[in-house]
Amino acid sequence: MRKEVIFNEENPSEITVLDRVFKKFIASEDILKIINDIASRINKDYADRKPLFLIVLKGSVFFAADLLKKISVDCEIDTIAAKSYGRNIESSGTVHLSELSENLSGKDIIIIEDIVDTGLTLQSLIEKLTEQRINSLETVSLLVKPAKLKSRVPVKYTGMEIPPDFIVGYGMDYAEAGRNLPDIYRLKA
Ligand code: PRP
Repeated sequence: MRKEVIFNEENPSEITVLDRVFKKFIASEDILKIINDIASRINKDYADRKPLFLIVLKGSVFFAADLLKKISVDCEIDTIAAKSYGRNIESSGTVHLSELSENLSGKDIIIIEDIVDTGLTLQSLIEKLTEQRINSLETVSLLVKPAKLKSRVPVKYTGMEIPPDFIVGYGMDYAEAGRNLPDIYRLKA
């Protein structure tokens, strides 16, 4: 069976995922530093509230797990699945959202996203959530690509703004490959 992720033995900062070459961009230890900073802000801002973290599957699972371990306020966790990329490196423009598993009325929701690229996923989610009588809604995203945004979406907690390159690793995939890489890689020009 052909391997989907191949590490370049001569250049450890490079990997091939399927048919594309990626270069290491953010090391796992730096991701954790970014997460510590975000968690401190959320812990302070929500000291008197009990937020419900809505994890956007599948890409956010690594980020959500590491972030939530650093949250010290009482909280709840739920998930929703969103899909718009399929096997491509550009958004299809159509966002498929799963059903919410519970009624979120009265809750202080914090959406957890791994990456905001065009912003279309987040926009769809915000529209879906505001149909319910939620108490408040904020978003935390590990990465944001300001140059790619097609929709003005509010991201209160941004880990890092990045250039418009395609990203893989730490939960983010290229055609479902590379999600389990501990570091984040960007597509080599
Ligand atoms: C990715 C990512 C975000 C979304 C961001 O999800 O996890 O949810 O795209 O892109 P956008 O801002 O252009 O909408 P994807 O559709 O790849 O599904 P996945 O998380 O299951 O991989």
